Amino acid sequence: MGKIRASVPAKAILFGEHFVVYGKRALATAINRRLTVVVSSKAESGYHVKIANIPTFGLQLNLEHEKGGREAYPYKDYDNASKAIAYVKKTIEYLEENYEIGGEGVEIEISSEIPLSAGLGSSAATCVATIAALKEYFGVGTDLEGIRKDAHSVEKAVQGNASPVDTAISTYGGYVLIENAEVKRLELAELDLVIGTIGSIPLSMDITKTAEISLKTKRIVEEVKARRETFSSIFEHIFDAADELTAQALRAIEREDFVKLGALMNVNHGLLDAIGVVPRRLSELVKLSQESGALGAKVTGAGGLDKRGGVGSVLALPGESKDRIKVALEIAGALVMDVKTGETGLKTEKFV
Ligand code: MEV
Repeated sequence: MGKIRASVPAKAILFGEHFVVYGKRALATAINRRLTVVVSSKAESGYHVKIANIPTFGLQLNLEHEKGGREAYPYKDYDNASKAIAYVKKTIEYLEENYEIGGEGVEIEISSEIPLSAGLGSSAATCVATIAALKEYFGVGTDLEGIRKDAHSVEKAVQGNASPVDTAISTYGGYVLIENAEVKRLELAELDLVIGTIGSIPLSMDITKTAEISLKTKRIVEEVKARRETFSSIFEHIFDAADELTAQALRAIEREDFVKLGALMNVNHGLLDAIGVVPRRLSELVKLSQESGALGAKVTGAGGLDKRGGVGSVLALPGESKDRIKVALEIAGALVMDVKTGETGLKTEKFV
C-alpha cells in the first residue's frame, strides 16, 4: 500500500475570537506555516504515532515509538505536553466508530511548523490533517466538507465548546467569515502580518506539568463564560460591539483601507482585554508593536492567562515598520514570524 501525505495551514483569527463562540461574527485567515501528517503501513499491528518536530515551549519533541499496540502512544515524560497526542488519539477513536478503518498496522508521522498552544490552530491542524490522511489511506472519503465536519466533531470532543473557525481554515485555507455559526469562504487580498508568540513559561511560575497549559483554550473559554454570566448586561454590549467590529473590518480589507483596519485591530484588542484574555506578556507585545509603528495590533486566538504563564500570540499589521516591530518583539522574548494570509488549505498526495 502507498503512503499518504496530508498537509494543512496554520490559522490566525483576525477579528472576533471568543465572541464567535456565542454566535458573533469572526474573520480568520490561513497563514503560510503548515502541519504535515504522513500515514503508511507498518508490520506491527495498531497505530504508531511519531511526532517529529513540533515547535513547542522551547522543546523539539522527537518521540520514537517503543512498543506496538492500541495504548502505546509513545511519549516520554512530557505528560500531556504533546497535546497533539490527545487529538490524534481522539481522531482514531472517532474514525473507528464512524468508518470502516483499522485492522492493520499503521504509522502516523506528524511534523509541524505551527507552535503549540499559541492560538495558531495547531490542534485543528492536527485533527484535519490526520483525518484527511487516514480517510484517504483507508478509502473512506476525500470530500472536504466531510473532513471539516469530522475534524470539528473531534475538536469538540477534546476541548468542549469549539467554534468551527479553526477546522474550517485548516481545511479550506484562504479566508473564512463565521456568521451565525455558518462557515462562509471569502476571496480577499493577501496581507503581510507579523506574529509574536510567547511560548516559554517563566521558571518562577508554579506550573510543574505542561499538561496544565495544554488544552489552554478550553480553560480560557470557560473563564470567559463565567465572567460573561457575572456581568451579563455589560458583556451583551461588548459582544455586540465585537460583532459590528468584524463587519467593519471586513469592509476595510475589501477597500484596502489599512489605516482603518489597524485601528479596528486595536479596538478589538481592547475588547479582548475587557473579557479577560490578555495576560501581561501579550499586552506588552501589543503595546510594543503599536509603539514601533504598527498600524494595529491585537491578541489572536484564545489569548492567554497570567496564571498559566501568559503564553499565546499577538498579530501586528506592520505597515512600513515591519523590521522595527520584529526587533522589538524579539527583544521582548517572542518567537517572531513574518507571515502572509490566504494560504492554500488541505493538500493530500499519494506516494510510495
Ligand atoms: C481559538 O482559536 C478561538 C476561540 O474563539 C475558540 C473557538 O473559536 O473555538 C477562543
